[in-house]
Amino acid sequence: MKKDYRIALLPGDGIGPEIALEAVKVLRALERNAPFTFTIEEGDFGGGAYFKHGKSFPESTQALCDRSDAIIKGPIGLSFDESQKIPVDEQPERGALLPLRRRYNTFANFRPVYLPEELAHFSPLKPHVVHGGIDIMMIRELVGGLYFGKKEMGVNAAGKRYVDEHLEYDEDQIQAIMHVAFREAMGRKKVLHNVHKSNVLKSSVLWNEVLTEVARDYPEVTVKHIIVDAAATALVLNPRQFDVMVMENMFGDILSDLGGGILGSLGLMPSACVGPEKAYYEPSHGSAPDIAGKGIANPYSMIGSVALMLEKSFGLHNEARAVMHAMRKVFGKGITTADLRDPEGKAAIVKTADFGDMVIEALSK
Ligand code: IPM
Ligand code: MN
Repeated sequence: MKKDYRIALLPGDGIGPEIALEAVKVLRALERNAPFTFTIEEGDFGGGAYFKHGKSFPESTQALCDRSDAIIKGPIGLSFDESQKIPVDEQPERGALLPLRRRYNTFANFRPVYLPEELAHFSPLKPHVVHGGIDIMMIRELVGGLYFGKKEMGVNAAGKRYVDEHLEYDEDQIQAIMHVAFREAMGRKKVLHNVHKSNVLKSSVLWNEVLTEVARDYPEVTVKHIIVDAAATALVLNPRQFDVMVMENMFGDILSDLGGGILGSLGLMPSACVGPEKAYYEPSHGSAPDIAGKGIANPYSMIGSVALMLEKSFGLHNEARAVMHAMRKVFGKGITTADLRDPEGKAAIVKTADFGDMVIEALSK
């Protein structure tokens, strides 16, 4: 009997379905002659799901995710005009994505900022800054902080509209993400950059306190503290100084997009969102409704998310490495898709599906 992995595939909106197809192709290619199989079931999720079911994370999709071993999720979100037709609380981010994160308590978000030689031409940074490649693992706490804190909006006693939004963490939440970060650092260069803002925010004071306690379990890891605004500058000036970085939810949202900027595109940013029992995997970019259906979206972040799933949910380390290597090889041949042009415009442009085929060809070698 071959081992069967059950995967929930949520293609999402915009370019989601077309890049999801390429991800499936890769999984099917890996299955050939392997001691495992993948059972892939699709579910509606996002803006499209709302128009079909009246819910952007319908019950049928929740049940599918519940019975799956892992979830691959495409980008979600509609054009501004289309979003306006959806009630605020059902709009895909609030109605689907945050509930998905909450449902599986996917507190550990891994966002690799990875720029090997073969991709270096995409980066807008000067060659001497990126020379030797960039390989950062940003670890973002994903189910706490401002995103999930108490929120209140209204009119106060003085008749003024006001908003009150809380940045909340308890020590268990911080401890959990710290253990993830230290373990990651142990498996890499044993250096952990802690991103915080303890000169202003009390939340960072507690964050750093808990970090210091957890650090005692990992005496081999060197901790370096950096304030979040300084981290943004440092990431652009000298990204190669970083290996593993840990940060709270909102800081991670912003700095991981900066990571995409370093690489030259959010299209080069896969991610893993890991909870105690289950994980889901998603590109860090949006659904790009303006280029949907044209076959010009690059599937790298989606296929890269598949590689993260192979590694983190299924322990298929060799397969994960092979997938990343295959994509590097295709880029290394000077091939890309129209949405991901190198600044010098030298690369040959192919369609989304052709890019996927080339990845599979490289994989089979
Ligand atoms: C991300 C996205 C989401 C976030 C949005 C779509 C809610 O920007 O995954 O980084 O802010 O977390
Ligand atoms: Mn974001």
